[in-house]
Amino acid sequence: MVTRHDDLTTVLRDPETYSSARALPVVLPVAEEALAVVAKGRPQLPDVVQSDGEAHARMRAPLAAALRPDRVAAMEPALRERAVALAAAVREGGGRAELMTAYAIPLTQAAIGLLCGFDEELAVRTYSLMDSLVRLGSQRQTEPEQMASAEAGAELAAVVARLLRERRAAPGDDAFSLVAASMAEGDRPLTPLEEAEAVGNLMQLVIAGQVTTAPLLGGAVALLLGERGGEEWRRIAADRSLVPAAVEELVRLVAPASGLYRETTRPVTLGGVDLPEGPGWCCATTRPAATRRSTTGRTSWTSAAARTGTSPSAGGRTTASAPRWPGCSSPSPWRCCRTRCPACGSPRRSRCAPPWTYATPRRCMSPGEAGGGNDRGLE
Ligand code: HEM
Repeated sequence: MVTRHDDLTTVLRDPETYSSARALPVVLPVAEEALAVVAKGRPQLPDVVQSDGEAHARMRAPLAAALRPDRVAAMEPALRERAVALAAAVREGGGRAELMTAYAIPLTQAAIGLLCGFDEELAVRTYSLMDSLVRLGSQRQTEPEQMASAEAGAELAAVVARLLRERRAAPGDDAFSLVAASMAEGDRPLTPLEEAEAVGNLMQLVIAGQVTTAPLLGGAVALLLGERGGEEWRRIAADRSLVPAAVEELVRLVAPASGLYRETTRPVTLGGVDLPEGPGWCCATTRPAATRRSTTGRTSWTSAAARTGTSPSAGGRTTASAPRWPGCSSPSPWRCCRTRCPACGSPRRSRCAPPWTYATPRRCMSPGEAGGGNDRGLE
C-alpha cells in the first residue's frame, strides 16, 4: 500500500517500473463460466487503463479529445438544466426522495449520454449494464448473480460494438465517433482487432465516467448532511461562494476512486521499503482521514480560505508496505471485506470501505496487517 504523496508521484510518473498492466485486478473469485461469458465474442486486449507508454498514449488520445475542456463546457448548460429539473421533481414530490435513483444516477446518465451521443433510453440501458458488470469480481455474488453480471458485460460490449460501427460509418460529434475515427485512416470498416481495442476503451469510458460520479454525488450529499448535523450543508446553501472549495474537498473526501493498482516490473525500493517484482501494489491516492489537507486559517473544510500545505499522509512514517493476512500462506496480496481470508480461511482483521466507495475494489485497511510498519494512511 503506497500512500505518501511523494511516493505516489514517483509511482505514477514511472510506468516502466510501476506498470498498469494489471491495473484492474479481479478482487473476488469469479466462476470460470462467468469469465468466459463476459469475454465472449471478442479478443481480450489491454485497454487504456491496463496499458503503459505508447500504447496508453495512443488509446488515451481520442478519449482526451472527447473530454477537452471546451467540449465539457459545451455540455454544461444542458446538464445544469437536467440537474435543476431533477431537483425540482424532488421538491414537487414533497422534498423526500431516494437520492441515487432520483438525482445522482439520472444526472450521471445524462452526462455520459451527452458525451457519447446516447439517447435517453440508451443512456439508461448502458448505465444498468455497466452497473451490473462492475459488481463482477468486486462484490460478493452468488454464481447466478455472477452469470447475470457477465451477461450484462457481454451485452454492453455488443451495444458498444454496434454503436462503434454505426459511428465509424456515419460520424457525429461525440466520443464514440472520435474513437471510431482514431482507429484507422479513412472510413473502411475496422478489423476485428481494431474493433476489439476500441470497444474495450469505450467500455472503460462508459464505466469510468459513471462508476465514479454517481457514487460521488450520493456520497457528497450524505457527507454534507451528516457533518455536524447538516451545518456544512446549511453554510453552503447560505453562501454560494463556498461551492468551488466544497466541490474540491468533496471529491477528495468522498473519493470514488481511492486507489489504483500497479505492478512492479523489477525489484525496487520505495519510501525506504523494498518491493519485490510483481503485481499487487495498491496506491491509495486519497482517503478521507489521510488526505484532508491542512489549510491556512480555515474554520471548516468548506472554508473558502486558500488551502496550502500538503496531505497529512505526506508526513506518514512508512509509505509503502506489503499487507499480508496474518498467518496466511497465500502469495496473493489482494484482500477483500470477507470474514475470512479467501485463500487460507484465517479470521478477518480488516474493515470495509465506506458504502459510497462500493464501486471501487474493496481493500484491506487494517494497520495491523501492514507488514512494513504502520502507515498513517491506513489508520
Ligand atoms: C470524480 C470522478 C472521477 C475520478 C475520481 C476518476 C479517477 C480516475 C483515476 C484515478 C484514473 C486512473 C486509473 C489508473 O491509472 O489506474 C482514471 C482514469 C480514467 N478516467 Fe476517471 N475519474 C473520474 C471521472 C471520470 C469521468 C467523468 C470520465 C469520463 C467521462 C472518466 C474517464 C476516465 C478514463 C477514460 C480513464 C482512463 C484514461 C487514463 O488512465 O489516462 N473519469 N480516472
